[in-house]
Amino acid sequence: MSSIIVVGAQWGDEGKGRIIDALAKKADAVVRFQGGSNAGHTVVVNGEKFVFHLIPSGALRRGKKCIIGNGVVVDPRELLSEIESLNLRGIRVDSLYLSSNAHVIMPYHQKIEEIEEEQRGKNRIGTTRKGVGPAYVDKAARRGIRAVDLLDKEILNSKLRMSLQFWKNSFELGFSVEAILEEYLEYGRRLEKFIVDTSLIIHELVKEDKVILFEGAQGSLLDVDHGTYPFVTSSNATAGGACTGTGVGPTQIDQVLGVAKAYTTRVGEGPFPTEIHNEVGELIQKRGQEYGATTGRARRCGWFDGVALRYAVRVNGLDGLILTKLDILGGLSRIKICTAYRYRGKVIQDFPLEASHWQECEPVYEEMEGWDDDAFEAKRIEDFPRPIQKYLNRIEEIGGVPILFLSVSAERDNLLALRQDSAALLA
Ligand code: IMO
Ligand code: MG
Repeated sequence: MSSIIVVGAQWGDEGKGRIIDALAKKADAVVRFQGGSNAGHTVVVNGEKFVFHLIPSGALRRGKKCIIGNGVVVDPRELLSEIESLNLRGIRVDSLYLSSNAHVIMPYHQKIEEIEEEQRGKNRIGTTRKGVGPAYVDKAARRGIRAVDLLDKEILNSKLRMSLQFWKNSFELGFSVEAILEEYLEYGRRLEKFIVDTSLIIHELVKEDKVILFEGAQGSLLDVDHGTYPFVTSSNATAGGACTGTGVGPTQIDQVLGVAKAYTTRVGEGPFPTEIHNEVGELIQKRGQEYGATTGRARRCGWFDGVALRYAVRVNGLDGLILTKLDILGGLSRIKICTAYRYRGKVIQDFPLEASHWQECEPVYEEMEGWDDDAFEAKRIEDFPRPIQKYLNRIEEIGGVPILFLSVSAERDNLLALRQDSAALLA
């Protein structure tokens, strides 16, 4: 197994960062393929917390290639400050590669996003306000600025004029081309040593049979095509995005893994059928420290959604699931798991056609017995209390997907392989 895609199976924040960090031990490269600094991937090592926004979560493992693919939108200010703050903490980011084709988030993208969110009022998306959406708009409209453009004054000047002028026709922005030009050429000088044809590098790695991890950001239900549109991000967060976002063909991919929390969270607006609106939701939020790693916003919390899991298995072709934060549910006497929805008088197994109707879906729950807080002192799955085993089995049945790993704390080594072949990915 050499090329493995790891994606979020829910609405983001599933714990992808800590999983990538764990799998990176045996990998040669970690590649981000979509999204931008809207992502917040947390890794905890010996109690020390690192949050990655643009740099792949393999950066804490020495000598691993960290690649930012063409599908990512990069805010150079954020990238440089992330490199610098890691340096200050003694982490040298020396094997970083940035795709020359990655699009650049400009300062006006962020401003436009703010204005648009204000204009939407109560229909706002609840974005991270990192400028990700407008940068992808420029990309699709073929007036975007790419990383390589930061290296050429004339090209940058003319592209910048075109993009900025377009937006100025609709928005009161107050940016000047001259000021941005100087500032961004300077970022280009500082980033030049990282800017390469990353698809070529990945191609070489594939040829040498190296282990490559493709690190998804956001989650399947935030995917611009497959998610709860329009309450989604602006990129393909599902597995297909790993191919278009890096220049690797689907035939080169060996395995697709999904990461899901043992419950569900969502940050930002949009449908969330299993959301809990009482003190149990607050308890999960507090115990799980469900506050955004990028924006600090409180995350909405809910029960595990089997409909969403089945969907994620389908749209990603998941080979296996990694379940995180199961410990957070410890101590609850009863635990609910959603197996289907009730929608306009019918019980349905899949999402309705129109995403705005997802809001009308009422979860059909199965209630299960809970487990004690200290249930995870056992180190082997066989020694876990019965209710935990039942919960895991039920998730596997509902999703039709095996659970390969279980994480019961944020600490790096606290990842249990539930199957022999999955153990091989770690040891
Ligand atoms: P990671 O990689 C959770 C959400 C935002 C908003 C919607 C659109 O840490 O899992 P955007 O700024 O992308 O245009 O916002 O998507 N969102 C995330 N939610 N985890 C993330 O990333 C997210 N990135 C964006 O809250 O609802
Ligand atoms: Mg996050």
